[in-house]
Parts: sequence; structure tokens; C-alpha cells
Amino acid sequence: MKLILMGLPGAGKGTQAERIVEEFHIPHISTGDMFRAAIKEGTELGLKAKSFMDQGQLVPDEVTIGIVRERLGKDDCKKGFLLDGFPRTVAQAEALEQMLSDLQRTLDYVIHIHVDQSLLMERLTGRRICKECGATYHLVFNPPTQEGICDKCGGELYQRHDDNAETVGNRLEVNTKQMEPLLNFYDQKGYLRTINGEQDIHDVFADINQVLGGLSK
Ligand code: AP5
Ligand code: ZN
Repeated sequence: MKLILMGLPGAGKGTQAERIVEEFHIPHISTGDMFRAAIKEGTELGLKAKSFMDQGQLVPDEVTIGIVRERLGKDDCKKGFLLDGFPRTVAQAEALEQMLSDLQRTLDYVIHIHVDQSLLMERLTGRRICKECGATYHLVFNPPTQEGICDKCGGELYQRHDDNAETVGNRLEVNTKQMEPLLNFYDQKGYLRTINGEQDIHDVFADINQVLGGLSK
């Protein structure tokens, strides 16, 4: 199963990705997670990405395309993958076409989680993430049983550096501009499936599952 998960910041890509990879046993490739790991490790890639991410801007295409190319070439992606947050520009989408053609693979679906922009500020500023296992929570929409503690592993919850109101505003503006041409690109190729992301988390997953139901695990 070869999938792309698309949506504006806060639409629920990470939340649904956790569930999809558990159900379908495919690697989760999130460019945002890869950049955050590189920043934590203090690598050259992390240094390059940090200033863009802190401002809510996109990391340059050549940097982003390079890390995805390397990751998709690994053996565990032969059986399938879930791309989360990539591609985000038409140039990235075109580069991905070339990568997949070089690897003799084709996409199954591009799942677009649609949420009106007006709902996303609250979703992002209220998000909390587990330091240990990366599980995602929300102070109002998906709170942990015990405040500040992960239900799954007992780890401490933290707020992402770019989830403050000012940076979220930039992220929403930048990504909204890029989204439409990208949706057209995949719609024309027949891959696009749009899901209503304004429903309860479980109902969003049920709709995604319905799209994926016809594909073999
Ligand atoms: P990235 O890490 O990909 O962040 P993003 O796209 O801004 O998306 P988020 O992870 O913030 O949101 P999400 O859709 O995963 O939402 P979530 O499920 O957590 O990218 C970060 C940065 O890296 C970018 O700004 C850029 O600088 C750089 N970057 C990454 N990829 C790049 C690329 N390809 N090119 C260039 N630069 C790149 O949900 C949000 C909250 O809402 C949570 O609290 C959750 O609990 C809650 N929630 C989820 N679903 C629901 C629901 N149905 N109802 C109510 N609440 C919900
Ligand atoms: Zn945890």
C-alpha cells in the first residue's frame, strides 16, 4: 500500500498516520518528524531546517526531496509506505513521480484530510505530544486521562516549538497557498480522495479505512 496523506497543518495527518501504520503495517515517513529528529541530533540537516521551521516557512525543496529520496530507497519501503507532509509543493510532487518511476512503484491513493482553516489555530495551539512515544493529544479534543502524562507509555507531554500562535499563523498561510495546485495535480491523475476531517477522530479513521478497504495489506 503506497499512500500520501495530505492536509493543512493541524488537519490530523499525524493523528491518522498513527492509526493507519498500526492497521496496515507500513513505514510512516513524516518529513516534519525527520527534520525534528535531525534538529534534536544537531546534524547538518537539522541546522538547515531549523530556521525555516521556527518561522513556519517550508524547508527548501532540494533539501526535502533529498531526504525523501534516501528514505524511499530503503528496503522497508518495498512493501509500501505512508508519506505524511510530503509532497507539499508541485516541485516536490514532480520529484516524487520521478523517484517512484525509478523504483518502479506506483501510488495507490492520495488521502486529503480536509478541515476548514478557521478550526486549525485551536487544534494546533492545544496540541500536546508525548516525549517518549510521540503520541498526539489535544487539551480539549483528545485529552490524556491524566493531565500532562501519556496514556500509552506514561511519558511526559510537551508542546511543539512551532505550535505558538504566531508561527501557526505563518504555517497556515504558507501551506494554504501551496495546497490547491497540489490537489489539482493529484486530482488530474485520479489518485485524490478527500475525507471530511472535521468529524471525530474515530470517524475520520473509519472514512479513511473505507477508502483503503479494497487494497491488500
Ligand atoms: P509537519 O511536522 O509536517 O507539520 P504540519 O504539516 O504543520 O502538520 P502538523 O504535524 O502540525 O499537523 P497534523 O496534520 O499532523 O495534525 P495532528 O494530527 O497533530 O511540518 C513541520 C514543519 O516542517 C513545516 O512547517 C515545514 O517547515 C517543515 N516541513 C515538513 N515537511 C515539509 C515539506 N514536505 N516541504 C517543506 N518543508 C517541510 O492534529 C493536530 C491537533 O488536532 C492534535 O492536537 C490532535 O489531537 C487534534 N486533532 C486531530 N484530529 C482531530 C479531529 N478529527 N478532531 C479534533 N481534534 C483533532
Ligand atoms: Zn507516550
